[in-house]
Amino acid sequence: MDKIVITGGRKLKGEVEISGAKNAALPIMAAALLADGESIIENVPDLRDIHTMIRLLRSLGAKAVFEKGTVKVKPGNSLQPLAPYKLVSTMRASVCVMGPLLARIGHAEVSLPGGCVIGPRPIDLHLKGLEALGAKNEIQHGYVTSRVAKRLSGAEIYLGGAFGSSVLATANVMMAATMAKGRTVLENAACEPEIVDLARFLQKMGAKIEGIGSPCIEITGVTKLHGARHAIIPDRIETGTYMFAAAMTAGDVLIKKADPSHQNVVIDKLRQAGVRIDKGKSTLRVRGTAKLKPVNVTTLPYPAFPTDLQAQMMALMAAAPGISVITEKIYPDRFMHVSELNRMGANIFLEGPTAIIHGVKKLSGAPVMASDLRASAALVIAGLVAEGTTEVHRVYHLDRGYERLETKFSSLGASIHREKE
Ligand code: EPU
Repeated sequence: MDKIVITGGRKLKGEVEISGAKNAALPIMAAALLADGESIIENVPDLRDIHTMIRLLRSLGAKAVFEKGTVKVKPGNSLQPLAPYKLVSTMRASVCVMGPLLARIGHAEVSLPGGCVIGPRPIDLHLKGLEALGAKNEIQHGYVTSRVAKRLSGAEIYLGGAFGSSVLATANVMMAATMAKGRTVLENAACEPEIVDLARFLQKMGAKIEGIGSPCIEITGVTKLHGARHAIIPDRIETGTYMFAAAMTAGDVLIKKADPSHQNVVIDKLRQAGVRIDKGKSTLRVRGTAKLKPVNVTTLPYPAFPTDLQAQMMALMAAAPGISVITEKIYPDRFMHVSELNRMGANIFLEGPTAIIHGVKKLSGAPVMASDLRASAALVIAGLVAEGTTEVHRVYHLDRGYERLETKFSSLGASIHREKE
């Protein structure tokens, strides 16, 4: 296992390029199963989760390869329905092969993903949506088996829960509905840019979808989809992470190949904190300040503040003198990073799903343990400003979601490297 070693105190300066969005690429790779012909997906980041999805597509009988940022998927005509525990347990996004498998072969057997370190992550909404389209679901021996006698049929479906919309449930049901008989209306659909990107890919495959990017998506089913070529959108979570890192180190960083229109809430919060941000067409220049101001944040579905940047925002606020309040509304238990940040000298305490952060003048380097992907990123950016050396252990989490993280931070002047444990 590897660890990342950071010596804090250097201001980040220079330029960094953003990779394609993991959370757009994963459902789009699954969507490629809807055609029998080949799809070519470009700007795919070279990440562990992407390779897991390639393995899953192959185990379902598709041809799938990754080469220099391009994924080619050719499902052919002999797909099989089983998504095994050993793959689903390492990556929850595997569950989004259900919709395409039901649409193509009327049968999916997918291991139930179970909980994860950021809290319970049920799939009841996925099942509710697919059932509304005519699938019969049965849970046995840790697997959900979903079958449809002939063809799925369109329906009006309300896809929400107490927390709001669900990203991957929207993806799953939208993919299934593209080949259902008749019209499907998805109410309370997720509006995340990754869902918009998936819908655009499906349109290129020949799907008929309206209301893309809104909470009401209408789909008119077709009998056949064809392979398509598509380039994945920039990763807004990676973009936000570099924005926070630049802000936190009082640096001056030009972030390239980003989509600034996806970062509005992050830009707003950083400006409130006293950070200067200039937006270009595909660039963001972030100039930090030595005197960060405290800011309050509540995570909610897009376009509000993303849960996937909550930990990084907390690292930033941990070093902004004054009191900030962060409330987590998507995953109320997603706070594993709090005790690790406190080991670095932060002063954060939890009241249910709310973190109260008393910003300190200096964080201090320490050995810390990464618990999940975004918590790991928060510990890395905290390490960039901490006095002395920070060692972030269990970095395999980072490899699931950040392409060439140490190389990118090094090129901005950070003292960071990877070592074998
Ligand atoms: N939920 C249910 N029932 C469901 C589905 C979701 O109750 O059937 C609840 C969840 O427990 C949670 C809320 O709905 O409270 C939102 O979860 P959502 O379904 O939107 O999450 P997801 O689709 O499983 C994706 C991202 C996550 C990101 C969330 C929220 C991918 C591959 N994953 O997960 O990304 O946190 O949306 O934006 O797209 C990450 O990249 O680090 C990550 C965890």
